[in-house]
Amino acid sequence: MNILVTGGAGYIGSHTVRALAASKDFTPVVYDNLSTGHEASVPDNVQLITGDIHDVPFLKHILAEHEIDGVIHFAASSLVGESMTDPAKYYFNNVEGTLHLLIAMHETGVDHIVFSSTAAVYGEPQKTPIEEDFPTVPTNVYGRTKLMIENMMKDFTMAYGMDYVALRYFNAAGAIQDGSIGEDHNPETHLIPLILKTAQGVRDHISIFGTDYPTPDGTCLRDYIHVLDLADAHVLAMQYLVDGGESIVFNLGSEAGFSVREIIEKAKKITGIDFKVEEEARRAGDPAVLIASSTKCKKVLGWKPQHSNTEEIIKTAWNWHKEHPYGFGI
Ligand code: UFG
Repeated sequence: MNILVTGGAGYIGSHTVRALAASKDFTPVVYDNLSTGHEASVPDNVQLITGDIHDVPFLKHILAEHEIDGVIHFAASSLVGESMTDPAKYYFNNVEGTLHLLIAMHETGVDHIVFSSTAAVYGEPQKTPIEEDFPTVPTNVYGRTKLMIENMMKDFTMAYGMDYVALRYFNAAGAIQDGSIGEDHNPETHLIPLILKTAQGVRDHISIFGTDYPTPDGTCLRDYIHVLDLADAHVLAMQYLVDGGESIVFNLGSEAGFSVREIIEKAKKITGIDFKVEEEARRAGDPAVLIASSTKCKKVLGWKPQHSNTEEIIKTAWNWHKEHPYGFGI
C-alpha cells in the first residue's frame, strides 16, 4: 500500500519513512515543502515530492497519480514559543494546511489519516499519568491548533466516512542507531539536542529553566519517548486503519518522568564531557510534570516501545550530534 508522508523530511517523519519502508506492507512517498525538512534525510529509495499542503490541486494529483491508500501527516509548524508570538502562522500552516489536506483526501477518496498530535493538547494536567480522556485545555497556540485539527478529523469522520488515528506525542528524542539522521531544528529549543550541542561546544552552556517546581529536584519532569518507538507506532496505526479500525486517539510516551537535572547528569555521563550548566528562571508555559499513560495504545495497537530509556535516547542522539554538529548542513 502506498502511504503519503507529509513532512516526511522532518525529524519524526524521516524516522517513520524508514519504518514504513522496512515494513512489508507499506511504500512511503514523502511530500514536503522543505521549509524545515531536509532533503538529505529522505532515503535514496524513497520518492520525495516537493509540495505544499495548501496546494489542493497538486495534492489531489499526487494522491491519484501515486495511488495513495493513506496519509501520515507530520507537516506542521511546531515551536510552542513561536506559536504565541506568531499565531497566524500556526493557524495557517497547521489548521488551514490540514483542512486543505483533508479536502484533497476526501475529494480523491483517500480515507485513512494518521496524525501527529501532541501532549500540548492537555495543557497543565490535573494529575499524572495523563490518559486520553483527560480534559484538553491547551495553554499555547500550538496545542490549540493540534486540538482543532483533531476536531476537524472527527467531523470528517462523522460526515464523510474518513478515519483517523491521532497520536499525542510526549517528548520525542533520540535518533536512528547508525547516526545517519537525527534532530535538526532551526532554531533548536528542545532540551536533549541543546544539551548535546553544549557538550560538543557548539553552545556555551545549557540553561535549566526553573529550579523551584514542586518536583523532587525542583526541575520539570518530562516523559521522553524514542523517535524509533514513535515511528513504529505510526506504522501500527496505519495498519490498524487499513484493517478497519475506528477513529481513535492515543498517547505515546514511555510512562516515566525524568527531571531536567537528571537528563543533564545522564548526558554528562554518556558524553564524558563536563559542560557548563546555568540555573535560570522558569520558561513561560512549562507544566511541572508531563507523564503519559500509554496503556491504550499498547492494548489496542499492540505497541511495545523498545528504545525509550533515557540511556538509549541520549546515546543515539549523541551518535547523530557528534557526527553532525551542524545537523544536515554538514
Ligand atoms: N528546558 C530547559 N532548558 C532548555 C530547554 C528546555 O531547562 O534549554 C526544559 C524545559 O523547561 C522543560 C524540559 O526541559 O521543562 C523539556 O523541554 P523541551 O523544550 O525539550 O520540551 P517541552 O516539554 O517543552 O515540549 C515538548 C515538545 C512540544 C510539545 C510538548 C508537549 O517539544 O512540541 O512537549 O508537552 F508541545
